[in-house]
Amino acid sequence: MLELEEQVLGADVVVPQPQSLPERELQRLAPPPRRRRIDNSRLSPGTGRWWMPIVRPMSAAPTQDEIGLYAFRVWGYKQGELTATLIHLGDRLGLFRALAGTGTTDAPGLAAAMGLHERWLLEWLRAMAAADLLESPDGKRFTLPAAAEAVLVDEDHLAFAAGAFTGGHPEGFVDQLAEAFRTGIGPDYDAQGPQGAHGTERTSAAWARTALVPSILPRLEGVVVKLEAGARVLDVACGGGVAMAALARAFPATQVDGVDLSRHAIERAERNLEGLTNATCRLGRAEEVTEAAAYDLILTFDCLHDMTRPAEAIAAVRRAVREDGTWLAKEIRCWPTWQENRKNPMLAMFYGFSVTGCMASATSEPGGAALGTVGLPGPLLQELAQAAGFTRFATHDVDDPANLYYEIRV
Ligand SMILES: C[S@@+](CC[C@H](N)C(=O)[O-])C[C@H]1O[C@@H](n2cnc3c(N)ncnc32)[C@H](O)[C@@H]1O
Repeated sequence: MLELEEQVLGADVVVPQPQSLPERELQRLAPPPRRRRIDNSRLSPGTGRWWMPIVRPMSAAPTQDEIGLYAFRVWGYKQGELTATLIHLGDRLGLFRALAGTGTTDAPGLAAAMGLHERWLLEWLRAMAAADLLESPDGKRFTLPAAAEAVLVDEDHLAFAAGAFTGGHPEGFVDQLAEAFRTGIGPDYDAQGPQGAHGTERTSAAWARTALVPSILPRLEGVVVKLEAGARVLDVACGGGVAMAALARAFPATQVDGVDLSRHAIERAERNLEGLTNATCRLGRAEEVTEAAAYDLILTFDCLHDMTRPAEAIAAVRRAVREDGTWLAKEIRCWPTWQENRKNPMLAMFYGFSVTGCMASATSEPGGAALGTVGLPGPLLQELAQAAGFTRFATHDVDDPANLYYEIRV
């Protein structure tokens, strides 16, 4: 579509822009209109100042409305970044838990209950209310909505999310990401520091602790019976060992082994497995698991798309699983095409996790597969499983908003 635009030649010209934007606030955020110098060489010889129409594509110059709305979108992410830090502080200082226990309170009341500084609490409380995470009629009294307990306080609730707010990255991590754009080699999980491993663990822990044994395993053919009788389980890329601990507690006759490449994750797993005599974990690579036909159940939870060599890891799973055994893969709920994935309203967050975690890890050695967070949809996993010698493939949707589970057998 083309638009006629009248301009004075030979002078700095303010490109006319519609002024119909109702949200004045959006305009305030936008930069001033662009001044364009018109190219005098385009004038015919002998012409002075005069008027002539110039034809330009509609899309060449954004309107004030477009700039304002785009700026609003961008600043929304800044608001998200800052709010994320404040959610982390609320989680770390136990403020959400305290609010859940007290009902409506004010800054002096919370300060007295927590032994913290009143002025700092007031600013934090107002920030959380401004973000609609607390209710406040007057900016003085604050209430945690009932639904917030599941999301911000109860670590065993499947909707628990506060653990994902880790308070940022360790020093130098973002520099490593920038460097990865030049070298192609990304930082591995350990580069995210101990808080990275802890955040990853807390993000998935509720599912491992409260859904794996009662809701997910019973969907798999013959697995629970074997585990009750005494079997061998391997958790590949076990992270903080929460799934291992749940299995070892529920099935005392079963031996649970775990392996992970991250020393921070293995340190967490050792702590989480303390006191369990039927669970052990070790530092190591999935693709270097050497046991043959040893395991009745092998887990790969949220990890194959993070690996530099997922096909080799799957080949190791195939070697390690017994002929009548089961491989249970948990992978990100994603699809083969951009158009399908675009329907996910949190897709930008998934890609954010990818650049800072999954794809970074999956490129952490030369020639890494670089699948990334949404890079291993069901059809591709099935293809890789078939190539490794598996023949049976079933998808289980257990209403986990971020993941699907795959039961894969020889
Ligand atoms: C997103 S975390 C998931 C951890 C755990 N399975 C869970 O569900 O919480 C991915 C894990 O994969 C591990 N990992 C990545 N590549 C690996 C490899 N080649 N061998 C073993 N572990 C690997 C990372 O260290 C990290 O702990």
